[in-house]
This record gives sequence, structure tokens and C-alpha cells, in this order.
Amino acid sequence: MRFRDHDEREFAVDKVVNSALRTANLTRHNVAALDWAVNEITDNVLTHAKSKVGGFIICNKISRQNIIEFAVADCGLGIATTLGVDDERQAVELAVQEGVTRDKSTNQGNGLYGTYRLGLASSGVFVLKSKHGILYVNVDGETHVRRNTVPFRGTYLVCQVDCSNPDLIDRAFVFGGKAHSPAFDYLERKHEGDIEHQIVVKAQDICKTFGSRKSGEEARQYIVNLMNCYPDRELILDFSEINVISSSFADEVFGKLFIELGPMHFMRAIKLRNTGSAVEGLVDRAIRLRSQTGI
Ligand SMILES: Nc1ncnc2c1ncn2[C@@H]1O[C@H](COP(=O)(O)OP(=O)(O)OP(=O)(O)O)[C@@H](O)[C@H]1O
Ligand SMILES: [Mg+2]
Repeated sequence: MRFRDHDEREFAVDKVVNSALRTANLTRHNVAALDWAVNEITDNVLTHAKSKVGGFIICNKISRQNIIEFAVADCGLGIATTLGVDDERQAVELAVQEGVTRDKSTNQGNGLYGTYRLGLASSGVFVLKSKHGILYVNVDGETHVRRNTVPFRGTYLVCQVDCSNPDLIDRAFVFGGKAHSPAFDYLERKHEGDIEHQIVVKAQDICKTFGSRKSGEEARQYIVNLMNCYPDRELILDFSEINVISSSFADEVFGKLFIELGPMHFMRAIKLRNTGSAVEGLVDRAIRLRSQTGI
């Protein structure tokens, strides 16, 4: 996804965290860590790079592992130029150190440092390329800095966030010797207006389509993540504007959740709102059939 200004950047960050919530098992800490790092790195593009084409971000889940990987690239000035360092190899090495910034009066120099630490505390996958400089962490968790013969004309970063590591934030986000808990993540942005004991989600926000099992699987993952992040709240799924869903989608989401949670827990935790008669009938049928067959 491309971003050229602040609004596009915010939209892209939300899309990335949303897709992580649909595909991986996330705790509240994981959401905050991913949100923080993606915000920092995309903000760097707009703040420092002066990239004529803006920045690009992609994100995906590593298959069969609970790891989210994101990559951000720009075609801008490069780190050596903005830091005012001649050696491009030395520039990438400096940039991931705590407190290193081009301007101490306006910035803190935490963004690349915190993201690098997040990569280190995760599976160890972290790559930062800028012009001829490349810094990467190998599978043993060792950091190497090299001079690339073929330059990357801008800045490129890849980082993995291991969402099965419960100590991730504590290990990664230590600034000035103090632990830092990122505030105001995607979930807060989305749900700050919700009343205390509820979480209201638009059905469109939890999956791409309402037609396939794959999409249903993502919607179920999103719902499970929300229930884990807000265990004391009731989840209201708003189906306004959704006129029909496929039977396989209904089964994948509601049939399976009903069996997984059990009837009482399901009914206590999840409410469907603004469902038309077609959607209601399909959900009813999916739950009935699933109850007969089990998982
Ligand atoms: N995409 C980029 N293009 C060019 N230079 C960059 C880019 N990203 C980072 N830099 C350089 O690396 C330095 C360190 O970046 P980092 O994100 O760690 O700190 P910061 O942006 O200066 O401060 P903070 O992130 O705490 O607001 C920046 O000051 C800038 O000189
Ligand atoms: Mg920064």
C-alpha cells in the first residue's frame, strides 16, 4: 500500500494492524507493539525521506507461525544523507542506536532503535537498507553491517513481530533505561467511542468479503482477538448494509464459534445487530447444522 501524506499513512497503519488482527493470534501487547513500530517507520518516511513517490508498506503473517512481518520502503534521501554521515554503512549502524536522530530538538531517535529491538526480541528478522548500507540480524540473533555493492535508492526496512512471545514489549521497548508501554493503539482508536461494557464492530471491518470460508476464518480470528483483548466486554457485531452472507462464511464464523465457546458463553459474549432476515436465517442455520455435527 502506498502513502504520500499523513492521512494516507494513518489509513495504511490501520489497514496493517487490521490485517494482523484477522490473521494472527494477538494480545493487546502485540497490537500495541505492531502499531507502534509501523507508525514510527512510516512516520520516518514522511518526516525524513522526502521521497517523491511517498512510501510503501506491505504486511503479512508468516505461514504456520504466529509472526507478523512488515516491510516499509521509500525512494528518498537515504539515512546517510539525513543524518549527515558520509559512510552509508556507518549510517545504518548509527540509526538503530538509541537516541540517534538528525535533530535532537524535535526528535528523540527512538523509532528505528525500538523497531530494531522489536525485531531482535522476535524471531530476529530485521533488515535495514539505505543506499549502500545494509544492517541485518541473522538467524542466531547477531547483527551484521555490510556495504552493498548494489545500492537501494532510498530506505527499506523489514521487521518481524513475534506475537507468541509474551515478553515482547518488556524486552524491546526500553528507552532511557525505562520500560515503555505504547499508548493509543489501533483498538483504542477504533473503540474510544464505545460505551464501557461493549465493543461495537462493523462487520465490514473484520473481513474482506462475506462469501468464503477463508474470509470467515479471518473474521473468526478477529473476533477471538477482540474477545481476548476485551474479556469483560460484550461484542456487538453490526451487520447494517450487509444483505447476504454465504453459508460457508456463516459456518466458519458463527457455527464454529458457537461450538468453540459453548452456547452460554457465545450468547453472553456476542450479539449480532442490524441483521436482515436473510443473514439471520443463514447464521441460525449454520449454528444449527454445526451443533448437530460438532467440529
Ligand atoms: N526513511 C528514512 N529516510 C531517511 N532518513 C531516515 C529515514 N528513517 C530514519 N532516518 C534517519 O535516521 C534517524 C533516526 O531515525 P529514528 O526514527 O530512530 O529517530 P527520529 O525519527 O529522528 O526520532 P523519533 O523517531 O524518536 O521521532 C532520523 O533522524 C533520520 O536521520
Ligand atoms: Mg523516527
